Amino acid sequence: MRRKLAAGNWKMNGTRAALDELAAMGAAAEGAAEILVCPPATLIAAAAQTAKGIAIGGQDCHPAQSGAHTGDLSAPMLADAGASYVILGHSERRADHGEDDQLIREKTRAAWDANLTAVVCVGETLDQREANNTLDIIGGQLAASIPDGATAHRLVVAYEPVWAIGTGKVPTMEQIGEVHGFIRARLERRFGAGVGRSTRLLYGGSVKPGNAAEIFAVPNVDGALVGGASLKAADFLPIIEALN
Ligand code: G3P
Repeated sequence: MRRKLAAGNWKMNGTRAALDELAAMGAAAEGAAEILVCPPATLIAAAAQTAKGIAIGGQDCHPAQSGAHTGDLSAPMLADAGASYVILGHSERRADHGEDDQLIREKTRAAWDANLTAVVCVGETLDQREANNTLDIIGGQLAASIPDGATAHRLVVAYEPVWAIGTGKVPTMEQIGEVHGFIRARLERRFGAGVGRSTRLLYGGSVKPGNAAEIFAVPNVDGALVGGASLKAADFLPIIEALN
């Protein structure tokens, strides 16, 4: 049985004033779905104090535990600040910071070593979809970004088509179902049926209160990784509610 997961990725948004929104999201903390919010790193420690019943995550981590890496944060630091999850391989990290699958694999290993659950993101660009390469791209990203030894406790996979992020465009429900079914099959093949069937798969990309229920009805969609609509409780609460 996979517990539904409503995950918010605040990206580079939010100062301490945003903790009020987080506190308001606590209204859904008793529901069936797990709630995760990944604020900017500057807010992780305060968010972990504020957010009763809401898990807190980072948005990235360095593969090393410590060292001369100015500006970076390690997985043990995130855990020490109160995070229990970390998003890795988001397409904005892949694009803005040139992150490749090998680096994401090392980061995922570092996250596991720090007892963080890794939310590993995969997704195709519009060009790749139009060239009918979507499943090849996703298959390659899964194989190379996820280390051996995955368990359902320490891995969540988020399917985020790059062209759907922040654009208001959403794939058809058939397209989401096809990719999620494919990811499930790949996880089962590599890690065994038990791990494959119990690992949660999130959809991300322009999830809003108005489309959440339809997306959550797609087989193998166990929740969402929400960007813009996770910043305000008024938007995020109805999305969480659609999972409950
Ligand atoms: O990680 C979540 C994200 O990339 C989706 O963003 O704003 O389209 O919900 P958004």
